[in-house]
Amino acid sequence: MKKVLAIGGSGMVGSRFCELASSKFDIVSIDEKTLDITDRNAVEKYFGENKFDSVVNFSAYTNVSEGENDRGNEEGLAWKLNVLAPGYLAEACLKNNIFLVHISTDMVFSGGKSDPGPYSEDHLIPEDSSVVTWYGYTKGLGEKAVKNILGEKACILRLIYPFRSHFEGKLDYLRKPIQLYKEDKLYPLFTDQKLTTIFVDDACRILERILEKGQTGILHASCTDLASPYDHVLYVLEKIEGKGIELKTGLIEEFLKTASSVVRYPQFGGLKTERTQEVLGMKFRTWRQMVDSFVSNL
Ligand SMILES: NC(=O)c1ccc[n+]([C@@H]2O[C@H](COP(=O)([O-])OP(=O)(O)OC[C@H]3O[C@@H](n4cnc5c(N)ncnc54)[C@H](OP(=O)(O)O)[C@@H]3O)[C@@H](O)[C@H]2O)c1
Repeated sequence: MKKVLAIGGSGMVGSRFCELASSKFDIVSIDEKTLDITDRNAVEKYFGENKFDSVVNFSAYTNVSEGENDRGNEEGLAWKLNVLAPGYLAEACLKNNIFLVHISTDMVFSGGKSDPGPYSEDHLIPEDSSVVTWYGYTKGLGEKAVKNILGEKACILRLIYPFRSHFEGKLDYLRKPIQLYKEDKLYPLFTDQKLTTIFVDDACRILERILEKGQTGILHASCTDLASPYDHVLYVLEKIEGKGIELKTGLIEEFLKTASSVVRYPQFGGLKTERTQEVLGMKFRTWRQMVDSFVSNL
């Protein structure tokens, strides 16, 4: 059995991976309490003392809105965890001959009109930090740090709007609007925003295949078709509550014009997966199929 280190294994995506993949791999799950990956010396020491075949780095500074308060701050946590730490892990993996899978995000792309998605695996990441969130910008630099050190030896797996059926730690792309709907507090849902999304269990199966094959390069974990948040949320609520639900709608086009501060929501987002499906020999599912599985596991 391959020995796999899951860094950030207590997080929303990482903890599900540890549950689902434990029959296939000998998984060691750690988080900040065991190893602070922003400490370069600690990372070097940990890898000197512990042996692994592969490492999956799930850890990240993931608070997109709070991350904006740190914009431009190269001493901040988003910078340390999303830009510097992936480089420290890549150095340790190079030195100890370990296969690194670094988890990233669609938010490295703007989703804006001048560079619209859906994005293929080889689409260039924008250099200009002002077109993406600070979270997305730092995650893009983290990808570059891994690539600079490990070149084609590593795998970068981008996820997009993940949702899972159960997780105490935080809400996600679907569980949040479901909860707000039940509290009668659901905001208007954009009908003109186009995105893809991923059921975390599907992402975990993709990740298992990457680890089994030792697949390198930039890969995408996503459903195969675009839809709007309105489409996604109406479908899931009708599955749970029954037909005939009425939801407030809005237009992102209008929202972006009138927002009081700069917001960087992707209007034309989404990840393409053709290359990923081909190299992994897998057929990914549509968003409705994924939501059906999500609902049946609730
Ligand atoms: N959630 C999304 O919507 C989304 C979308 C696309 C891509 N992604 C990517 O998917 C990955 C997983 O996201 P997630 O939402 O599952 O993350 P999460 O729930 O925020 O979990 C983050 C994990 O990182 C660990 N961590 C934080 N600081 C650390 C440090 N200094 N050293 C070691 N570990 C540390 C945390 O452990 P502690 O609790 O001990 O701090 C936790 O286990 C990330 O790379 C993210 O960028 C997420």
